[in-house]
Amino acid sequence: MNIDSITLVYFSPTRTTKQIIEGIAKGIRNGSITHLDLTPPIVKDQEVVEFNEELVIIGAPVYGGRIPVDAVSRLQRLKANNTLAVVVVVYGNRAYEDALVELRDLALKGGFKPVAGGAFIAEHSFNTEDTPIAKERPDERDLKKALEFGETIQATMEEYRGSEDVPCLQVPGNHPYKERGQSSEAISPITKEEQCILCGQCAEVCPTAAITINTEIVTKQEACIHCCACVKNCPSNARVMEHPRIRKIAMWLSTNYSERREPETYLAS
Ligand SMILES: Cc1cc2nc3c(=O)[nH]c(=O)nc-3n(C[C@H](O)[C@H](O)[C@H](O)COP(=O)(O)O)c2cc1C
Repeated sequence: MNIDSITLVYFSPTRTTKQIIEGIAKGIRNGSITHLDLTPPIVKDQEVVEFNEELVIIGAPVYGGRIPVDAVSRLQRLKANNTLAVVVVVYGNRAYEDALVELRDLALKGGFKPVAGGAFIAEHSFNTEDTPIAKERPDERDLKKALEFGETIQATMEEYRGSEDVPCLQVPGNHPYKERGQSSEAISPITKEEQCILCGQCAEVCPTAAITINTEIVTKQEACIHCCACVKNCPSNARVMEHPRIRKIAMWLSTNYSERREPETYLAS
């Protein structure tokens, strides 16, 4: 099969998922590349997006061993017609548990034909100077693996005449999926007012429109998904995630998950 166009579809608050799937697309030499960024807040009644003859790379981060609820609702708007898909999850060096199988299932339900899958590692959203967790990943080694994965996908696709030839993609994970973690506490980053320059960057990058700005930054705590996009994008380091519960998790991750994990890739066979 020849690929004329590739579409990158992603939910990626801190942009590491986007970076990985761009790396994979680089390895698939043919085809123009289009982006469908599902990260901005969803607008009610937003249209269904349809796909046909192309390759779609679908990427999402891992939250609690699953695909984030907000990514699921956005991915459910995709409708394909046996369109080939590569499913990719990106996690913070702890574990991806049922996220990859969940993403594969979502792709199947949307009418895609998953041809390959991958689990890659990136800097954890809760990474800080004193609790490093996969700091600065994806690095050169990760991006080289992403590129090589793209090259392998390209070579595999050449062996198929059409999407009906593609066997079922098997990936690790359980059914039923792991239960989602629930928190009764309202947790969100806070703004150090003395450092805040009211530039609006935090509100701009928030995937759930949890932040509004007038004379100060107001965070709707119940809407916060703890993605830390606001923290990582604040130009004056005024936005911080200092909640004791998150600090404790970050410390635990930094202590117990410091050993480097490597990307895993799967092909339909
Ligand atoms: C609420 C939350 C839960 C997370 N859960 C996990 C997890 O279960 N396992 C893991 O290794 N990383 C976990 N992470 C880390 C993210 O998967 C990782 O930082 C990823 O690179 C974020 O992707 P993005 O840059 O595309 O937003 C979690 C991050 C957040 C914010």
